[in-house]
Amino acid sequence: MTEFGYQLLATDKAARRGRFATAHGPIETPCFMPVGTAATVKAMTMDMVRSTGAQIVLGNTYHLMLRPGAERVGRLGGLHEFMRWPGPILTDSGGFQVMSLAERRKITERGVTFSSHIDGARHDLTPERSIEIQHLLDATITMQLDECLKLPAPRREMERAMELSLRWAARSKEAFTAREGYGLFGIVQGGIDPELRRRSAEGLQEIGFEGYAVGGLAVGEPQAEMFATLDATCPFLPGDRPRYLMGVGKPSDLVGAVLRGIDMFDCVMPTRSGRTGQAFTRRGTVNLRNARHADDPRPLDETSDCPAARDYSRAYLHHLVKSGEILASILLTWNNLWYYQQLMREMGVAIEEGRAEAFAAAFAEEQALGDI
Ligand code: GUN
Repeated sequence: MTEFGYQLLATDKAARRGRFATAHGPIETPCFMPVGTAATVKAMTMDMVRSTGAQIVLGNTYHLMLRPGAERVGRLGGLHEFMRWPGPILTDSGGFQVMSLAERRKITERGVTFSSHIDGARHDLTPERSIEIQHLLDATITMQLDECLKLPAPRREMERAMELSLRWAARSKEAFTAREGYGLFGIVQGGIDPELRRRSAEGLQEIGFEGYAVGGLAVGEPQAEMFATLDATCPFLPGDRPRYLMGVGKPSDLVGAVLRGIDMFDCVMPTRSGRTGQAFTRRGTVNLRNARHADDPRPLDETSDCPAARDYSRAYLHHLVKSGEILASILLTWNNLWYYQQLMREMGVAIEEGRAEAFAAAFAEEQALGDI
């Protein structure tokens, strides 16, 4: 088995700072991965994404298999070349997006069949086909196909989906072609049941993966339940492999999850909310639609190094948002991705200096102060 050689550079209680090498460059953790669903981080050029400090971006099997098609991306040299991002790319396996976007879904032991949300065409996605698509895309990190349930769900349903995901994990491993600097991650499921989570984590380790993701969270449960589930899961994951919390989350989710031993995150929140006028700052979120910004000459956050946060007045950003200008989406997405990367860098330093909990407390205090 190839290994990324995940190195733990420092730990502070359960929190970890680490680094691993991939075929497309190094990844330092804790890290946030901007979402590039359809081979683009919406509203950003890749130079802008890089300027925020991001080292790895996400792509999606579901979207890319439907449009422009995995075989086409493969013929065009893979996703790195296609979207002009030479760095590491993690692709999600498609199961989660099928559940949230596709129509007329049917899950069987074999896989999932569904109708495309774009043109209604029928498609088939099995663990083997998902791996094949991710190979065609040339994903640095490939995710197994899994079944993610919406919560709350009955325990027997959570158990069924967790066990199906374990069988799909074994089939994914079988289908995956090991290559130096590439890896396959298994996905822990089991809802909010500690016993199911432990069984899932242990079952995945028996199969053996380069990294382990925690899936099935941020699907409607309160933050305290998500944190309790991480407390019940992380101790059963190997210490020498990266851990990825899928689809999470708000800045406070990230901080709390890093304290509990998570290394990697992805979420549409910074990009999506940037397109609806919401900015993330160290003093919490700011809604640029609000009329209180109309005459405000101050920048969003003068302590930030991000040009979007530092060089433009709130009055101008407000005007752009109100006018529906493309630049509003660009500047606010840039600000938000920068903020998320800055937060991960600061947490990394705090872990190295043995003050992760103090950092989390100061973070919560500053966020609670509210906007300037
Ligand atoms: N994205 C957010 N949550 C999940 C999950 O549970 N599984 C997968 N594959 N992707 C996700």
